[in-house]
Amino acid sequence: MDIVNPALEDYLLAHASPADDVLRDLVEETHQLVPGTTMQISHDEGEFLTMLTQLTGVSLAVEVGVFTGYSSICIARGLSEGGRLLACDVSEEWTSVARRYWERAGLTDRIDLRLAPADETLRALPTDQAVDFAFIDADKTGYPAYYEELVPRMRRGGLIVLDNVLRGGRVVDPSAQDAADRAIRQVNDTITADSRVQSVMLPLRDGVTLVRKR
Ligand SMILES: C[S@@+](CC[C@H](N)C(=O)[O-])C[C@H]1O[C@@H](n2cnc3c(N)ncnc32)[C@H](O)[C@@H]1O
Repeated sequence: MDIVNPALEDYLLAHASPADDVLRDLVEETHQLVPGTTMQISHDEGEFLTMLTQLTGVSLAVEVGVFTGYSSICIARGLSEGGRLLACDVSEEWTSVARRYWERAGLTDRIDLRLAPADETLRALPTDQAVDFAFIDADKTGYPAYYEELVPRMRRGGLIVLDNVLRGGRVVDPSAQDAADRAIRQVNDTITADSRVQSVMLPLRDGVTLVRKR
């Protein structure tokens, strides 16, 4: 199921501020490495992340799911002066590409990479409500746990952004019942019913939810 008409998606992409050479080269290298991959966020979503971090005023950001580093570059570019991004992933292979591009983008000193299952990394963070911004884009079955670990760690007014919340439309297909489908429906319903937060779901690419802690 197309979330948005493909011609309109192309139009949207063409009308975001253009990617620079670093991001363009990263897309090209990633597609050489993993032909046909859909794991990397799109450029308009990346611009959206940069703009959200700039608008929110972010000193501490957390990313769950780095892959080759596209979204981490977009988030790190929007951080406030002296801000940090804690980037969580399990893959040495993919994140070695990310590290090279962080270096090239001049962002290495803003990003702390944690190579471990993200639920462990998140659980080990203090619950002092210091996180201003979080982006979840990793294994879909982990989303409910990542959300629950993040909410108590967010500052009031802090923003959690979740990617792929529509799963190509499978959320409204009752026959779609794999573990990832069920986990995404679960986290979507949890967020809607959660009085600690206010939320809105947007039809950007594969669906993006914005969750603001009250
Ligand atoms: C969809 S990709 C992330 C794409 C990335 N946001 C980008 O813009 O390129 C998902 C990533 O989640 C990572 N991942 C999978 N399971 C994980 C886990 N349990 N903890 C942390 N990261 C995990 C994978 O290694 C992969 O790099």
